[in-house]
Amino acid sequence: MGAVILGTGSCLPDRVLSNHDLEKIVETSDEWIRTRTGIKTRRISGKGEEAYRLATVAGQRAMEMAGVTAEEIDLIVVATISSHMLMPSCACFVQKELGAVKAFAFDINAACSGFLFGLDMVDKYLRADREKKILLIGAETLSSHTDWEDRNTCILFGDGAGAVVMGYRDEARGVVASNLFSDGNLWSLLCMHAAPSCNPDLNPPQHPGTHILMEGREVFKYAVKAMEGAVLDLLAREKVDLDTIGLMIPHQANIRILNKLVSRLGLPAEKVFINVQKYGNTSAASIPIALDEASREGRLKPDDLLLVCSFGGGFTWGAALVRW
Ligand code: COA
Repeated sequence: MGAVILGTGSCLPDRVLSNHDLEKIVETSDEWIRTRTGIKTRRISGKGEEAYRLATVAGQRAMEMAGVTAEEIDLIVVATISSHMLMPSCACFVQKELGAVKAFAFDINAACSGFLFGLDMVDKYLRADREKKILLIGAETLSSHTDWEDRNTCILFGDGAGAVVMGYRDEARGVVASNLFSDGNLWSLLCMHAAPSCNPDLNPPQHPGTHILMEGREVFKYAVKAMEGAVLDLLAREKVDLDTIGLMIPHQANIRILNKLVSRLGLPAEKVFINVQKYGNTSAASIPIALDEASREGRLKPDDLLLVCSFGGGFTWGAALVRW
């Protein structure tokens, strides 16, 4: 009994940027990118494809699947770190675009873990207020925060949005439990500065710009260990055997991180959903996009136990179990 996913949706920008396209921008190769990251292509937003517009279409598709109208939505939460404006929130733009007149709306920032953190929050909200219908979205246009001269980062990220409609059901399905963590001490290993401050006293001595900065090797190490720990801890706490997991949807950061994680957990490859080769790392959008694809491809059957895990800037990380 709990917060159930009633529908899923996603929306990707039209433009496909391949590794061969990147070879023309920075000194790299398709072979290097594929072997180090598993990524072949990513989507990049063009005109009219701001995060809120991708989020709106993903939300519409999720509502359609759920059989819920915009007027019935009570709350819109968008997990994002790349909305086109700081104020109003991305969620307020989505509320306007959808015509979700009674919904209140706000964004959350937990970087790549934003959707997972939102899922936990929505689960607890719905347990406290069972009549509500909530639209939870992960939406990113990280292409606008990518240093296109930095080959360490520009090969990794992509744009897109994924959404779920959630409501409470008196049925033996829905969010079972989650396990969330943060460690702000490690902020500088994966970060993105805000715009220069209007108060010069609050500017760092040298403003590096508003693009993503990353210590790749360090992030790699922490990501594998952190997700493994969050998953094992959650399974032990909930007395769930790994064999009973129907499907795992990890944050689609990088195939090497995922392969290492999966082999340390001992999960068979066919139980892990991977689409990083098509979209790269879409941060908070990666899990709901993958969830939408998995559900539409029939990879999730009623009563399946879904395991979700993520890792991102902050650091933020965690895992959740959902009975489908
Ligand atoms: N193309 C070609 N060469 C590249 C390159 C690129 N795009 N990016 C880096 N290199 C080079 C480096 O300059 C370095 O060259 P050098 O040995 O001459 O100094 C060499 O490749 C190795 O660099 P390194 O950074 O040690 O590579 P790596 O094996 O650690 O792979 C990442 C780099 C980024 C793919 C890897 O560290 C990683 O996946 N990190 C996690 C990133 C991530 O997922 N972040 C988001 C988490 S939410």
